Order: sequence, then C-alpha cells, then structure tokens
Amino acid sequence: MCGIIGFAGREQAAPILLDGLERMEYRGYDSAGIAVRSATKGLQVKKTKGRLQVLRDLTHDGAELEGTLGIGHTRWATHGEPNDINAHPHVSENGRIALVHNGIIENYLEIKEQLQRHGVTFTSDTDSEVVAQLLEFHYNECHNMLEAVGRVLRRIQGSYAFGIICSDYPNALIAARKDSPLILGFGENGNFIASDVTAIIKHTRDVVYMDDGEIAVVTAENIDVFDSEMNPLEKKHSQVDWDVSAAEKGGYAHFMFKEIMEQPEAIRKTVSPRVREGRVVLDDLRLPAEYVRDISRIFIIACGSSYHVGMVSKYNWERLLRRPVEVCLASEFRYSDPLVDEKSLVVVISQSGETLDTMAAMREAKRLGARTLAIVNVVGSSIAREADDVLYTWAGPEIAVATTKAYSTQLVLMDLVGLYLADLLGTVEKSEYDAILWELQTLPEKLEQVLTHVEDIQYFASRYFNHNSIFFIGRNLDYAMGLEGSLKLKEISYIHSEAYASGELKHGTISLIEPGTLVVALGTYAALFDKSMSNVVEVKARGAEVLAVTTERFREKMEKTADSTVVVPDTHPILQPSLGVVPLQLFAYYVALQRGCDIDKPRNLAKSVTVE
Ligand code: M6R
Repeated sequence: MCGIIGFAGREQAAPILLDGLERMEYRGYDSAGIAVRSATKGLQVKKTKGRLQVLRDLTHDGAELEGTLGIGHTRWATHGEPNDINAHPHVSENGRIALVHNGIIENYLEIKEQLQRHGVTFTSDTDSEVVAQLLEFHYNECHNMLEAVGRVLRRIQGSYAFGIICSDYPNALIAARKDSPLILGFGENGNFIASDVTAIIKHTRDVVYMDDGEIAVVTAENIDVFDSEMNPLEKKHSQVDWDVSAAEKGGYAHFMFKEIMEQPEAIRKTVSPRVREGRVVLDDLRLPAEYVRDISRIFIIACGSSYHVGMVSKYNWERLLRRPVEVCLASEFRYSDPLVDEKSLVVVISQSGETLDTMAAMREAKRLGARTLAIVNVVGSSIAREADDVLYTWAGPEIAVATTKAYSTQLVLMDLVGLYLADLLGTVEKSEYDAILWELQTLPEKLEQVLTHVEDIQYFASRYFNHNSIFFIGRNLDYAMGLEGSLKLKEISYIHSEAYASGELKHGTISLIEPGTLVVALGTYAALFDKSMSNVVEVKARGAEVLAVTTERFREKMEKTADSTVVVPDTHPILQPSLGVVPLQLFAYYVALQRGCDIDKPRNLAKSVTVE
C-alpha cells in the first residue's frame, strides 16, 4: 500500500523516481508526487491527484525538476481524500523538509494539536504531514537532521516507512521503517530506497532489507544503517534473482492476463525443485519430526485470495493429515482470543509477505507459543523474515492487483507441504502419496491445455458480462474454489457476486434466484458431483442461466443441464481446484475487459495491504 522510492546519486533523480513509481503504481494509484533537491533550485516538489501519467505530464517526464537527490510516492489514501494537497511528498512549514510515508501514524491528532498550539499551520488532512512538521519542529531545536529523526521516531506510534530529504543536506536522504517494508539498493550511479524491489530492479539487484526500528542515511557513495539508538549496523546484502523483464508486460495488454498465462511455468518452478526420487523434499523446512507428531491443531491464517487457498487446504490437509485444521481470516484471528498453544502449527499464507493483518496475526500466534510457517512469494518480505519457517512460492513478481499465479503456486505448495507432513505422520497410503505427487508434476501440462481454450471463455464472458449479480456454487473443494472465482470477478469487474456452498442455497439464498440470474456452477469435485448436479437442477428449475465448470469425466452429464459448460482435464481430486480456478480467472478477466474496467488497477484497491 503506497509506493516509496528515493535516490541519491550522480544522475538526474526525477526521471529515475518517475520510472520507479510507475513500476510500483500497483501499490496505490490515487495520487503521486516527487521532491527533488538541487544546489541552485533548492527543494522542488510536484504532486497531483490521479495516475502517474498525470505527474509525468505535469513535470514533462521529470525534466522540470533539477537535482540528483530526491524522493517519490504513489498513494493509496488512508487519511484524507485523494487530492493534490493530500498527495505526498509533504513539506514542512518552512519548506526545508520533504517527506514520503507509507503506513499509519496512530497518534497524529494528538501531535497535530500540540504543534498547532506552537503556531504550526497544516495544509493537508494527512497523518504524514504531521511527521514532516514534527521533524521541522525538532530540527529547529537540535539543528541535526539525524537527531531530529530519532526524536520523531521516539514520539510517533504506528507503522511507517519514511523517505526524507532536507534542503540543508544536499547529498543525503534519510529512511526509517517500522511495520512497513523498505529496502536499500546499491547502484552504480547512486543508491536507492524503495518499498518494493520492482521499483529499482532496473538499476540494481544488490539490496539490503531494512528491519523495524532501523534508520538509514543514503548518499550517492554510501548507505549507513543505524539501530534505534543510532549505533551503526553491518547489514547482510541479498541478490535479487529475477530481472526487469519479469515485472514488465512483455507484449500482453494487461499484467493480469500475462500472469494467468505464466501459471504453468510458475507451478513448474514451485513443484519441480521440491520433488526428488519420488518424494517431496522441503530443504528449507526445519520443523522437527517430534514437533510434527505432537501437533494437535493446525491454523491457516491469511486474507483475501490467500485465505481462499487456506479454504482449499483445509479440506486437503484434514483428508491427508487427519488433524483438525482451522482457517482464519487474519483480521479476525488477532482479536478472537484464539485457542493457540505450543502444540499448534500456524501456517500463514501471503503473496506479498507484507499484509499487516497477516503479520499481526502471525505475531499473536508466536506470542501464544505456536510455531509459524509462512508460505510467501516475495523473497525477503517481513512475514518471510519473521516466521519460524518460510517456504517461497517462487512465482516471480506479481504486478496485477488481482492475484492469479501467486494463488496457484500457493495452492500447489500447500499440497506439497500437506503431503510432506502426512508422510511424516504416516497418515497417507503410499499409493495415494504417489498418485498425488505424480499428478502435481503433470499439472503444468494440463494447465497448458486449459489455456489453449481462452477463446471459449472470452465468448462466455461476452454473453454474460451485462449481469448485475452472479452466484458461484459448489460443494467441498468446488465451494472453496468458488470463493476465489467470485472474489476475482467482483474485484476487477465490480459485479456483485457471492459464492455459496451448493447445499446451503436452500437455506435462504435460493430466494434470490429468478429467471435469468447467472449461476456459475462448479462441478469438478468427483465425490460430490451428483449432489452438486441436484443443486444445479434446482437453480435451473427457478430460471437461472447456468455456466458450469466441470471435468472431462462429467462433461456429458453437465452439458445436458447447464446452458454453457467449460471443461478442464481430470486430475487427482485434491488438485482439481488448481485446474478449475483458471477458467474462473479468465472469466473475470474477460468480463472486466468487456465492461471497460481498469483491470490491473481496480478502483479502491492496492496490491499489498499494509494497513489494518
Ligand atoms: O499479499 P497477500 O497474499 O497477503 O494479500 C492478501 C489479499 O490482500 C489478496 O489476496 C487480495 O485479496 C487480492 N487482491 C485478491 O486478488
């Protein structure tokens, strides 16, 4: 949520900042701004409501701002509506200090009132401006920027990643973080701060992940990192192992479509290195066998689509492990006084590894004594670093706000972990273990087959895109998959949609079915296919139009009842959602396209949700 970039170097900063912001625009896109300092022009700030292109036009692609030191920001509004004034950077009253901020300052009102009593005038509604003004206040007292930053950090509560420049310091920018991601990048022509590797990958792969409470001073030549007591720190460098093309559209109209098409390869990369000689090998997992045998309860905690992966995994893990598995929304878990203890295994799932709700839930679980395992895509992210164990999905950068390949790789990684644990516990038959593992390895080819039929789905989308309300129904794994299909559709096409367990319809929801209502019926879960069909017949009898997703095995039966049918290959039952979800992703994509929606940047959303 919100993207931050900063540069101190030997090139003009503004074009570099704009390019970085463009690559990070998926983190927030309601307004954007940059501040650059030069010896002749001092601090120059340009910011505006709207997409980054508006800022580009305003600054003539950065040519308007002179200087080799600067900071930039792309915003997802929390405090104050998206407008020019609330956009970042925020500048202190005397115009000497400019600041960009990601996160939320919880005690900002109290500080604001205090500063107002000292005569400070505020221009915006944001919590972030309060920090810029507080900085000036302390800087006026101590005349040392680093000292002033230290005083401010001791005074504020909440989460933050800051990039700060001051006109009295021509060569340095200051960065600080707590509960909001920030990385340092070491480039040839200068050094960087960024909330996301994507912003700077064009310039460097040599990065350092800042930890909570740390402060960095970035110049063209060097980056010094300090702890909260201002003691210098030696930080470990990491090399980013993907290149800039992975975060570009590469000829596709949208990142979402590119990422859907990348799924076979992404799944291959997640699965292949973890299967050796017919066994699941999880080198990175350090869960002691005795601990696994003692696990009494498993919690899967996540948000949004990652939560839906948890829903699928609950069915699969309970079947494989014969242990109770509870799936919790991270935002609820934390405040529910959860019954977690040392015998609980807590699995958190997150694409970004920065989702604040998930992070907070994980910390709560740790506090209660549980061991935590994180399933994460973004390498070096906060959740990945704080969990006891981490397994990466290796899906590569996912840029579209609506997740697709990250979801798919989370699914298969959870299947691999489930198999691995079941093997340790002795709760899975060898024949079943072998069958699942074999099918996991053949998923990429089967997915490729599904993706050769995108035109069929495009056609169905053109038939149904005008509906105002769409239901997804299914049982068991099909229900869990329907939750994801429904979320995909509503987040990018803005069509109201709900997913229901088919058997639950008759307990209320069926009253909403009237002639012409579109029902997406999921019939891929073999064990309950006949029961699901009865529910399809029930909605048909009330006039619903049915678009079905089923497997080759049930094609004939489904085609007799449904109005339109999409067929995916058969696989092992527990893996069927990995194939079935793809037509749902494509359906959402094409419906949104028909409705002229901004697919990669849907309204009100952002990719990584770092506020509560
Ligand atoms: O990065 P995370 O997996 O923790 O994100 C969780 C949700 O915010 C995310 O899945 C969201 O629901 C997506 N926009 C769904 O497409």
